[in-house]
Amino acid sequence: MLTEADRRRLDALHIRIADASGASLGYPSAKDFDYSDLAHFLQYPINNVGDPFAEATYRVETREFEREVVSFFADLFRAPADDWWGYVTNGGTEGNLYGLYLARELLPKGVVYYSEHTHYSVSKNLHFLGMRHIMIRAQESGEIDYEDLRETLKIHRDVPPIVFANIGTTMTEARDDVRKISGIMDSLAMRDRYIHSDAALDGAFAAFLDPRPHYDFADGADSVAISGHKFIGAPIPCGVVVARKRNVQRIAHAMREHHVVHRIPAERPRRTERLAERIDHRPPELLQQLKGGPLHQAALGVRRRHLRHRALDQRIEVQRRHVDLTRHQLGKKEIAKIDKALGLDSERLHILEQWLRD
Ligand SMILES: Cc1ncc(COP(=O)(O)O)c(C=O)c1O
Repeated sequence: MLTEADRRRLDALHIRIADASGASLGYPSAKDFDYSDLAHFLQYPINNVGDPFAEATYRVETREFEREVVSFFADLFRAPADDWWGYVTNGGTEGNLYGLYLARELLPKGVVYYSEHTHYSVSKNLHFLGMRHIMIRAQESGEIDYEDLRETLKIHRDVPPIVFANIGTTMTEARDDVRKISGIMDSLAMRDRYIHSDAALDGAFAAFLDPRPHYDFADGADSVAISGHKFIGAPIPCGVVVARKRNVQRIAHAMREHHVVHRIPAERPRRTERLAERIDHRPPELLQQLKGGPLHQAALGVRRRHLRHRALDQRIEVQRRHVDLTRHQLGKKEIAKIDKALGLDSERLHILEQWLRD
């Protein structure tokens, strides 16, 4: 229950918002919408957790509708049949972040090229993702300067290009021509490349323009993002991103491997290793003399750690080859088999097993 003071405060807020909206022209966000038919859904904790195309365990969800929305935009963006994937985002920024993230995972050495008229959220995304980037001049209209792009790409022919194309710049709604960009990369024989279309502003209507702007999958884009609360108009920030499914699957696969390998602390502390090597080469008699003392204890500790890391490194190598084998999934027998194959002797095995129990 609201207190009287809270109610008055909310009423005042309502008046202020209504006034401000009345004075707003509706650019870039449209305001001529009426979602009152959906208002009653606001009483539920609806959440489409994760992939809209995967099975959900949480039942308060609307994935069927999300799939329909994404599928509508995949068609609009002429995504290749059976080779697209996407989801409803929280806005253009997130869709662009996803596109850039995919590009980074596919082309870790890639450099991002984008025009000086690109939305400011993109440089935040690039910073966030730690991607190398080069700003390209824009023409007066706001469209990217293709000559500057070509010359800059030429200088950096040794690194895969990731072009971030604007499909409707923030100030002038200028559109970069994805087909031209793709053609420039073709002419420079740059095969490993990625193009993301930031269609935050124009993506929802560009397909209906005549002539149709070159911005989608058929023109050479690898992902397209739109913002739902701009041209379409929505009271809650939202957007859509669509990408090539095979790319999404490639990075999902790489992530699974990464996850398996990195669940185990794989770092090998250099100092420990050097110390361990020195101890390894001490004559046994000397170690015998030191037995029981604090140095001996320390030496044993170092040695154990060294062996543990060495064994773990080997185990990780095995895991790399047998992607799905995690130490948690392995039974004792399999562990013993692998250790035998790796030539781990009983002392090492004992140390390793002890560590595994830690
Ligand atoms: C061209 C462009 N890209 C990206 C964005 C960011 O979109 P959002 O506000 O939906 O995160 C905007 C927002 O105005 C934009 O105009």
